[in-house]
Amino acid sequence: MDLVLHWSTGPGAEELGADELWGRGATAVQLGDGVLLASFPTEAATRQAASELGATVEEVDPAWQDAWKSFAEPVELPGVVVTPAWREVELGADRLSLSIDPGPVFGSGSHPSTRLLLGLLAESPPSGLDVLDVGTGSGILAVAAALLGAARVTAIDVDPAAVPVARANAARNRVAGRVEVSTTAVSEVGGDHDLVLVNLTAGVHAEVGADAAAAVRPGGRLWLAGLLPGQWRHVAGAYPGCKLVAETALDGWVGAILAKAGGVAPTGAGSVPTAARRSPREADGTGRPPARSRRGRRSGSA
Ligand SMILES: C[S@@+](CC[C@H](N)C(=O)[O-])C[C@H]1O[C@@H](n2cnc3c(N)ncnc32)[C@H](O)[C@@H]1O
Repeated sequence: MDLVLHWSTGPGAEELGADELWGRGATAVQLGDGVLLASFPTEAATRQAASELGATVEEVDPAWQDAWKSFAEPVELPGVVVTPAWREVELGADRLSLSIDPGPVFGSGSHPSTRLLLGLLAESPPSGLDVLDVGTGSGILAVAAALLGAARVTAIDVDPAAVPVARANAARNRVAGRVEVSTTAVSEVGGDHDLVLVNLTAGVHAEVGADAAAAVRPGGRLWLAGLLPGQWRHVAGAYPGCKLVAETALDGWVGAILAKAGGVAPTGAGSVPTAARRSPREADGTGRPPARSRRGRRSGSA
């Protein structure tokens, strides 16, 4: 049996509760009437989130985590579509297609933070660049970067469960030769990447920001995601030697494009994608997210 968090939010608070759970690193969230069930990468993380939220933990049949798969839909973005690896989907030749199975880790493509960075990658392809993906989860961003022409992608995650999942997704999309996946700490990864992708919760940005900034070459770029409105100002100081080039937002989640001082900007990633200029009010940290474009009740994996 698996351990899941059971949280009674009350009717009407399920979506906000789900955002809270994703923000704390949940890998799957199921919404019911005033009730949420969520799984986390480890039992310890499940118990910690439950204790902090005043929720309970309970045992469930492991099959519940796969229930969402039967109705998972392709995630469509301008120029990119992410298809669930277990589904046959007819695609036109005009778009980049990624086939992804997130297994038990984060990164199906449905979460706004993932979509935000996928959109930036599609708009400013990292052709020929050396890319670092911090917190790779399913490897979705690393695979997208490689498919979009990155010369080399280093994909790291603290969760050992992410390594085989990301490797399998790289192989499934025929880019395993250019995507290296490991649990190497960001502090040990080395410092000459052209572009660093960081989709993490605010607290983890604050923890790893200095090391992620050190891993970018002078003039290189960092694309950050995983923040809720108002959180950027708490995270900005965690990235020393980097200046904010643009803020970006999608469906109530906020990201930032940073440039490291010195050197020249990389081609592609050096430009500010127009997607990054969307919804300035949403991105300005006023704490007023726009109406969500959420599907209704769902059980899902991020
Ligand atoms: C929000 S998920 C992002 C997954 C994927 N990159 C995406 O965009 O969908 C964050 C990932 O970061 C990992 N993570 C958390 N803390 C980390 C750290 N200090 N260093 C590297 N990875 C970390 C988690 O295990 C999780 O897989």
